[in-house]
Amino acid sequence: MDYKKVVASLISEKTEFDIDKIEGMLEVPSNTEMGDYALPCFKLASIYKKSPVMIAKELAEKIQPNDEISSVTPVNGYLNFMVNKVSFATTILDEISEKGDLFGDDSVGEGKTVIIESSSPNIAKPFHIGHLCSTVIGQSLSRLYQSVGYKTVKVNHLGDWGTQFGKLISAYKHWGDDEAIEKEPIKELLRIYVKFHEEAEKDPELDEEARRYFKNLEGGSPEETKLWQWFKDLSLKEFALLYNRLGVSFDSYHGESFYSDKMPEVVDLLEERSLLKESEHAYIVDLDEYNMPPCMIVKSDGASIYATRDIAAAIYRKKEYDFYKNIYVVGIPQALHFQQFFKVLELMGNEWSKDCVHVGFAHVRFPDKKLSTRTGNVIYLEDVLDESVNRIKEYMQNTKLEEDMIDPTAEKIGIGAVIFAFLKRSREKEMVFTWEDTLNVEVESGPYIHYTYARGVNILRKAEGLADHPDYSLLTEKVETAMINKMSTLNDVIKEAVNRNEPMVIARYVIELSKLFNSFYNSCKVINEEQPLKTARVALIQACCTVIKKCLYLLGIETVDAM
Ligand code: ARG
Repeated sequence: MDYKKVVASLISEKTEFDIDKIEGMLEVPSNTEMGDYALPCFKLASIYKKSPVMIAKELAEKIQPNDEISSVTPVNGYLNFMVNKVSFATTILDEISEKGDLFGDDSVGEGKTVIIESSSPNIAKPFHIGHLCSTVIGQSLSRLYQSVGYKTVKVNHLGDWGTQFGKLISAYKHWGDDEAIEKEPIKELLRIYVKFHEEAEKDPELDEEARRYFKNLEGGSPEETKLWQWFKDLSLKEFALLYNRLGVSFDSYHGESFYSDKMPEVVDLLEERSLLKESEHAYIVDLDEYNMPPCMIVKSDGASIYATRDIAAAIYRKKEYDFYKNIYVVGIPQALHFQQFFKVLELMGNEWSKDCVHVGFAHVRFPDKKLSTRTGNVIYLEDVLDESVNRIKEYMQNTKLEEDMIDPTAEKIGIGAVIFAFLKRSREKEMVFTWEDTLNVEVESGPYIHYTYARGVNILRKAEGLADHPDYSLLTEKVETAMINKMSTLNDVIKEAVNRNEPMVIARYVIELSKLFNSFYNSCKVINEEQPLKTARVALIQACCTVIKKCLYLLGIETVDAM
């Protein structure tokens, strides 16, 4: 039951406003002792030409409490409504038990498609922390959008085209070692790529050579294409291992190369609209008027470029999927690039350019380490995941788990911990990654949530199933009410996360719910409690576990039943 609607309809019956309008005015008092909902009557003052205090008083006299609403009280110009706690608890807990992991879902997005582009690593380069950020935010967003009814298309816009492939081919021809490449593809390809940059400093002829190779590649020359395809296959194989560990998948791997033959069309369209300008033998779209540097479309050597491929990709996506929204989960340093090509799309007359959204995120810094592919000084994501899992395993030394359960459990908790650490911060805020924040079960970490969930499951196991028809009127402790209230807001929380494209909203919510659960756990008996209170509390825990599990799912994290 939607109690806000119930309150709105009670008010609506006694005024001339419709339910939706009233619902929009209702607030949730910060002090829950005052009420569960409040109508700020100053919003009606100009219409009734009376003071808010007067309006609140008169409405309170007209509106009768009912089964769902236990009291209606005027307080200083607010009309406060207290929800009937028993009816409220019964409704929410029954709903959670009925809907299970579908609790909190919605159908607002039905019939609409949202594209979520994320991850998008570069071929032959390490999958770095920025890509991890994008991957986990993208995974969470797609689950969030699905949960409110949208169809999602998860796109991995691979960086598999561009002049750097000319450099790589050149590097390979000079220093490539097939055996080493097959053994550790990305490390070895990175090694020769870095060597290329060092050597090119001394010998500029190398850059010329690299340019020629890329031109050949763009021209479809079989030799260069074969090498490129080999690099790509090897890289994808390595990326797949990571995606498997993270539990991530994609609906499309159309990367930059997919658009290489769609470039001339973009150039034609731009020409038709007289948007192209020649500048130092290159072609650009001038964005001076919009206070942005020009968007480069074709380079002076005729080679295509990142932005052009993005323009082609957006046009392709609109044709292919007729998206409602086209979301790019990419680091904030690329913000200008997105503003530029969104603007170019608009100037081309695509009114849907307004539906393209850059969901940016700030850097994650590892204290004392710098990221740069060109110097080879990178943090390998795999190493981060491995370290997390190994540290968790150390903490689990006293676990009562069966031997063969330890590894898979540590894997889930360790990986979940890294994902959670990335998603619990506001995505636009820089973050310094520390193991303390990530792994300590005493702080707001992934393991803390995992632990809370496992604690709940453990009680449910001991309680051996649920009795029928728990008497929820017995759940009168303050913390019990707070848990029920919190759980009742899940749908609003999911919608907020969707509107802000911000998984943090879910992470914060599940932290708060877990804290309530733990304080309940510390202050209320369950297994040793007398019936029928025991049954009611077990049902409360069951509901709480369902909601925690759902939240972790929305963040892309798997739960464990014991640890
Ligand atoms: N491959 C790029 C990188 O690693 C990210 C691609 C972002 N997406 C896009 N449509 N431009 O920096």
